[in-house]
Amino acid sequence: MSTINKAAAQVTATVISNKRVGAYHQIILSVGEVVRHCRPGNFIAIQVGGESSRMVLRRAFAISRTSESAQFGGTVELIVAPHGTGSKWLCAQGEGSEVDVVTPLGKPFGVPTEPANALLIGGGYGSAPLFGLADLLKSRGCRVDMVLGASNGSKIYAPMEGKRSVNSLKIFTEDGSMGESGRVTSQLSSIIEERGVEIIYSCGPMAMLKAITEIADQHGVIHQASVEESMACGIGICMTCVLPVKDDQGVISMKRSCIDGPVMDGSSVCWDLVGKSTEGF
Ligand SMILES: Cc1cc2nc3c(=O)[nH]c(=O)nc-3n(C[C@H](O)[C@H](O)[C@H](O)COP(=O)(O)OP(=O)(O)OC[C@H]3O[C@@H](n4cnc5c(N)ncnc54)[C@H](O)[C@@H]3O)c2cc1C
Ligand code: FES
Repeated sequence: MSTINKAAAQVTATVISNKRVGAYHQIILSVGEVVRHCRPGNFIAIQVGGESSRMVLRRAFAISRTSESAQFGGTVELIVAPHGTGSKWLCAQGEGSEVDVVTPLGKPFGVPTEPANALLIGGGYGSAPLFGLADLLKSRGCRVDMVLGASNGSKIYAPMEGKRSVNSLKIFTEDGSMGESGRVTSQLSSIIEERGVEIIYSCGPMAMLKAITEIADQHGVIHQASVEESMACGIGICMTCVLPVKDDQGVISMKRSCIDGPVMDGSSVCWDLVGKSTEGF
């Protein structure tokens, strides 16, 4: 049975920097020693709204990159879209502010033991966990290609930085304002074939993860998908974040994406049943 990430710790983090980048904020938090346990795919749960806030639930954010420096100690980088009350509060925190965080949470991406051809696909802020993953895969000798997509160009996070992190980067926007017009799946079959892709890592909206799974399955390519199902507790207690997942025998059960994920084997998730009643499983 899955349990909370054993390395998780609650710490008071300091905002080292908070910069607006397109539609997002790049926020760097100093978290101390716990950074050593943070892996690509793990997430951080942040208490928002200050001490007297009525926003009781922590908000989850993917860890984009980590670093250790003599000046700031262990830091984590986040890419935050300010859309609701909690994320807007976080994006308003200036340098030197303190926030209460729990990290690392969740299961990280699995990394191949031998060099492989990897394709990383991010939708919107779903690109966040892929940058640190790209660094790790490249350090292991993998070829790393990346495809990013969003509704428009302002929602593609730091495209130049993305380009530097990988062997090749393709961008798709629905309105054609950056890269090619279309979706991340528009040329996926041909990219898989041309690049000899052996493993796909993805993060983004459920519909995107479902569409990638279908194409990955057609090509027999492993697909690790990081799901961003709404989470309340983030530590396996409340069952808010459950997803229908089938095992090797085809038996479907509800898995908690905060502790059994957020990284899941795409082909094991029953995407069509997400959000539906569990009766008849
Ligand atoms: C694993 C994971 C990784 C993620 N990574 C990223 C990322 O890298 N970047 C990013 O931008 N987003 C990320 N998200 C999404 C992010 O968690 C949500 O955008 C964030 O929770 C939104 O919070 P909000 O308060 O701004 O939005 P809201 O929509 O206002 O609230 C979000 C949740 O909090 C609840 N809530 C709202 N108000 C209150 C209240 N007063 N008291 C209690 N609960 C309340 C809502 O019911 C809802 O469930 C990730 C989510 C997950 C699960
Ligand atoms: S968020 Fe509470 S069990 Fe996953």
